[in-house]
Amino acid sequence: MSDWKAICRVDDIPQLGARRVRRPAGGDVAVFRTADDRVFALLDRCPHKGGPLSQGIVFGEHVACPLHNWAISLVDGEARAPDVGCATRFAVRVDNGEVSLLAGELATLALEGAAAGTHDCDSERAARDAMRKVIAIVSA
Ligand code: FES
Repeated sequence: MSDWKAICRVDDIPQLGARRVRRPAGGDVAVFRTADDRVFALLDRCPHKGGPLSQGIVFGEHVACPLHNWAISLVDGEARAPDVGCATRFAVRVDNGEVSLLAGELATLALEGAAAGTHDCDSERAARDAMRKVIAIVSA
């Protein structure tokens, strides 16, 4: 049983930019494309004051928030020091140029924190790991 939900093609995402994915509940998800065509996904909400990360510029493995220029890691969602905060990260699969996100994560991650600014990275990571274990067990 596959929990992956097809979102778009890699080519549908602007290089060094993002595409927004709407969810029925919770904030939008921003799906980013790097210069070398790797794809990452974060909640479209900066951990500083909620800026739309999908409107930021991607550089390396970071996105610069368009509001106050915090650098947020696309790999783990953490703000670059000295700033402190964490954007929720979503798992991404790219298969033959098709980008997919986990339906379970889209339905469950960062629902209550959509209006909040700062996240606790450790709690976020623990919740994500727990979700992946459940998906692995259900898929087995
Ligand atoms: S809201 Fe993103 S840096 Fe301030």
